[in-house]
Amino acid sequence: MASNADKFKSDGSMLGGLLEWVDARFPATALWNEHLAKYYAPKNFNFWYFFGSLALLVLVNQIVTGIFLTMHFKPDASLNASGVPVAFASVEYIMRDVPLGWIIRYMHSTGASAFFIVVYLHMFRGMLYGSYRKPRELIWIFGVLIFLCLMAEAFFGYLLPWGQMSYWGAQVIVNLFSAIPLIGPDLSVFIRGDFVVGDATLNRFFSFHVIAVPFALAGLVAAHIIALHEVGSNNPDGVEIKKKKDANGIPLDGIPFHPYYTVKDIVGVVVFLMFFAVIVFFMPEGGGYFLEFNNFFPADPLKTPPHIAPVWYFTPYYSILRANTVNFFWLDAKLWGVIFMGLGVMVFFLLPWLDRSPVKSIRYRGPIYKSALAIFVVCFFILGYLGMLAPTPGRTLVSQICTIIYFAFFFLMPIYTKLDKCQPEPDRVTFK
Ligand code: HEM
Repeated sequence: MASNADKFKSDGSMLGGLLEWVDARFPATALWNEHLAKYYAPKNFNFWYFFGSLALLVLVNQIVTGIFLTMHFKPDASLNASGVPVAFASVEYIMRDVPLGWIIRYMHSTGASAFFIVVYLHMFRGMLYGSYRKPRELIWIFGVLIFLCLMAEAFFGYLLPWGQMSYWGAQVIVNLFSAIPLIGPDLSVFIRGDFVVGDATLNRFFSFHVIAVPFALAGLVAAHIIALHEVGSNNPDGVEIKKKKDANGIPLDGIPFHPYYTVKDIVGVVVFLMFFAVIVFFMPEGGGYFLEFNNFFPADPLKTPPHIAPVWYFTPYYSILRANTVNFFWLDAKLWGVIFMGLGVMVFFLLPWLDRSPVKSIRYRGPIYKSALAIFVVCFFILGYLGMLAPTPGRTLVSQICTIIYFAFFFLMPIYTKLDKCQPEPDRVTFK
């Protein structure tokens, strides 16, 4: 099938001429073909396959709205003539005085939550269909690195409006580093650039948020897609479509990404934008989950809020952090909490090697994996919910049980995926 780019070139038009000129100097048509017009994707993609392109969309939204916010935001913790921190006042200025500033800010703040919703669903799709398994381990590893960058990006960004939650949230998280033996206290001063979270912290978090992490994210996303296009996409059946090709070497179950999936992804984009617009226009605070109520008060180093909780997307990990209440092996409970929290994210790196099932997709897996995944998801939600609440002995006990189940899901995987009774994978994808 001739791609659009090839058609333009052969029709002798001005556009065709320009394309030939560019192609002699830069592989424009070759890249178009390799990644879109002649990238053969399995024809059975379903709902879960919308979230990759949506993640790209949200990334672009964050970068574009972030550029405009940066034009007006001032990373300055000193107090203005009215006694309000300049950074906090500059966000108020964006909301009230900058033309369309309110919508740009709400698109960015809602975009942060949307990013995590989309990425969590995108990761869950990987777990449903075994997309992390051979030969896609590197796609997954780049993905987990993206997830880490995303967490760092959200954490740095949350300090910038310099509200009460920004300030005290950063204080709690940076203080965690002081639990590391020997170097901990000095390390936390090094990270803050001061003995308490202050102007130096705000400046460095700003520079990480607008330059360092977005660069890393963009590079990792490029690597993620290059790795994906090297091995080809998985699909809801977990069948390798490259194994069955026609006489021209085209996978029998593959269709060109463009125009088929570009058009299909637009449907996902439109539906997503409808939900996104409803939130941005009618409930930008998301009931206190997307923008916390306490963050509408300027940071006050002398007034600790009675209850400090991170934004919803961090709360499952915050619960894991708080779940450990005992000192063991000469290390104190706080440090174990930090270790478990870190391990809770890092363990995703190991997934391709922990899963020993003979099949990839949940469609052909046995009851054990299906139940394990369902229990894991329930525990993840419970941990997320408990992470928003103040701890009580009962809640701590539940989060300890859920933390154990969370890790058991991963570390027992080599055993239960081998024991599970799977059905044979079909030869070709199933498509209705
Ligand atoms: C900024 C964040 C991200 C972007 C923009 C992104 C983008 C994409 C895109 C466009 C695809 C192809 C379309 C699709 O299969 O849905 C994809 C596939 C994939 N992504 Fe991501 N991704 C991101 C984060 C992640 C994360 C955090 C993980 C896992 C930890 C991950 C794991 C995967 C895997 C395993 C595939 C292959 C799926 C398959 O072929 O079944 N991605 N990604």
